[in-house]
Amino acid sequence: MEVERVQEIANFSKETIPEEFIRTTYEQPALTTVQGTVLEVPVIDLSAPDEEKVVRAIVDASSNWGMFQVVNHGIPHETVRKLKEVGKAFFELPPHEKEAYAKSPGSQSIEGYGTKLQREVEGKKAWVDHLFHKIWPPSEINYQFWPKNPPSYRKNNEEYAKHMHGVVDKLFRCLSLGLGLEGNEMKEAMGGDNMVYLLKINYYPQCPQADLALGVPAHTDMSAITILVPNDVQGLQACKDDHWYDVEYIPNALIVHIGDQIEIVSNGKYKSVLHRAKVNKEKTRISWPVFVEPPSDLEVGPHPKLVNEANPPKFKSKKYSQYCFCKLNKTPQ
Ligand code: OGA
Ligand code: NI
Repeated sequence: MEVERVQEIANFSKETIPEEFIRTTYEQPALTTVQGTVLEVPVIDLSAPDEEKVVRAIVDASSNWGMFQVVNHGIPHETVRKLKEVGKAFFELPPHEKEAYAKSPGSQSIEGYGTKLQREVEGKKAWVDHLFHKIWPPSEINYQFWPKNPPSYRKNNEEYAKHMHGVVDKLFRCLSLGLGLEGNEMKEAMGGDNMVYLLKINYYPQCPQADLALGVPAHTDMSAITILVPNDVQGLQACKDDHWYDVEYIPNALIVHIGDQIEIVSNGKYKSVLHRAKVNKEKTRISWPVFVEPPSDLEVGPHPKLVNEANPPKFKSKKYSQYCFCKLNKTPQ
């Protein structure tokens, strides 16, 4: 069966889009976004010398929004620029070159080039194609899903992965200290150095009826944390207290999402953020989230030091793979 890529649909849909991409009024971004608001996802300077202040800022953001942006994060801007350059170049290859990396229909693995991962209510489709592959640890990498073209794809992605550890460690340390745990305990609860970094590239072609469609519908990430870099086309939105807010594009910032596993380990103190992505009428939007995840067979539950008689566990403990299975199949956790 031939799979229809959104990129191809966008090439012949110049004025209108197929019906299955048109959202109900409950979801249409133009109707459901808070306008002219002053509320914004917090921006945190990770290099500020006063660590306690950084911890407080991260705790506030993670408890109230479940999302924040970080600047002065230590990943060289050139490394990020090169990551984006090769990802964009891959999606600009002719279709048959991209199809060489297509996820096979029966495959259990998430890795590969594809369209529409989520099965959605009412059969609606998201205006996006994607490429998934792991970038860390080396033992988990399947290079068959890494594009050979452009030739610097591998080098640039490896460089980004290498530079991510500093930010990931710093974020876990702050999240841990913010709960009164030792600095390393949160990372250890997520698998320590065995945590898996799964890169996704979202490619959202320009969309003639952008106000009626969504690139990614509302969801929370299953990961521990997600670290995302977008191109310069704004589109990400975060939900706070039942309202949708645009997340401002800040050049060179990284956007951090608290995922479901951190919400669980923190026993609900940190919130996994409900978010979605809009598409743009004139421009292609691209984003590069890295899902930082526990190893699939690691059991994740509320941290034992955070539960007691007065604070009973709010979540079940289960293997990460089991959590993902239940969420993807929409069965109770
Ligand atoms: C995702 C996601 C948002 C974006 O892929 O999980 O939330 O800005 N993407 O592309
Ligand atoms: Ni997401």
